[in-house]
Amino acid sequence: MQLLDGKATSAAIKEEIAQEVEELKRVGGAPHLAAILVGDDPASQTYVNAKVKACEKVGFESTLVRLGASVSEEELLQKIDELNNNPEIDGFIVQLPLPEHIDEKKITEAVSPDKDVDGFHPVNVGKLALGLNTFVSATPNGIMELLKRYHIETEGKNCVVLGRSNIVGTPMSILMSRKTSPGNCTVTVCHSRTNDIPSFTQQADILIVAIGKEGFVTGDMVKEGAVVVDIGIHRIPDDSKKSGFRLVGDVKFDEVSPKCSYITPVPGGVGPMTIASLLSNTLKAAKLNKN
Ligand code: GUN
Repeated sequence: MQLLDGKATSAAIKEEIAQEVEELKRVGGAPHLAAILVGDDPASQTYVNAKVKACEKVGFESTLVRLGASVSEEELLQKIDELNNNPEIDGFIVQLPLPEHIDEKKITEAVSPDKDVDGFHPVNVGKLALGLNTFVSATPNGIMELLKRYHIETEGKNCVVLGRSNIVGTPMSILMSRKTSPGNCTVTVCHSRTNDIPSFTQQADILIVAIGKEGFVTGDMVKEGAVVVDIGIHRIPDDSKKSGFRLVGDVKFDEVSPKCSYITPVPGGVGPMTIASLLSNTLKAAKLNKN
C-alpha cells in the first residue's frame, strides 16, 4: 500500500505557483483572492484561514470578508456584486455552508463565472460537463491532479463514486468518465437510494468516497488492490490532542488501507489538494483578468 500524499503534492504545486507569481508580479501584479466567510462555524473558519495562509505562502494578495451569521441575503448579494465589479480581485469564494436563511443556489449564481474560482456556478459546471476550459471545482480538480502526479492507471477501470453532491460527487463522476488521462473510466455513482452499496464498491478499481459519513467504508467493501480516495473529513473528540479532537474520513483507514494499492490519508490527502487547486484556479483567473 502506498499513500497518495496530498500534503507533499500540494507543497510541490504551491512551489510551482510561487514561481509563476514571481513572473506575474513583474508584468501585471500578484493574483488576488477574496474569501467571504459568513458566521462563526469553527470548521469553516479553519478552512478559510488555511486558504488565506496558502495565498500568503505563494505570494498572492488575499482579502478575507467576514460577515455576521445574521447578515441578510441582500447584504451578502451586495458584497458579491462589489467583488464582481472590483478589478483588483481576480477571483473569490463564498465559503459554504451558509446560514439557513440564505439561499445557497442564489448566492452561487450571483458570483461572476469569470471570478468563480470554486467552479460552483452553473455556467462553469456546464462547461465542465462539456469538457470545455473552465474553473473545475477545487476538490475534484485536486483529486485529478493527485491521480495524475502518482501516474495512477485509470483507463478502462471501474470507478465508483460514493456521493452525488453538486460540488464533489457529481463533478468527480463527470471528470472520471471523460476521454482524458486520468479519466476514461466506467463510472458508477452510488448514493443514499442505492441498493446494496457494497456490491458496487467491491467491483471498484478506483473508489472515490464523498458520502459525508464517518467510517462508512469498511474493509469488506473494498476490492484487493483498489485505489481509494477519501474526501470525508470529520472531527471526533480526542482528549489526547491539544485541540480536543482529531480528523477522520469516510473510510475506516485501518481496515481498508492494507487492501489498497494506493489510498489518501485523512488528514493530509484530499484536503491540501483542494487548497492547491483553489490557488491554481486563482492563478488562472489572474492571468485572464490581467491580460
Ligand atoms: N465548503 C466545503 N468545501 C468547500 C469549498 O471547496 N469551497 C467553498 N466555498 N465552501 C466549501
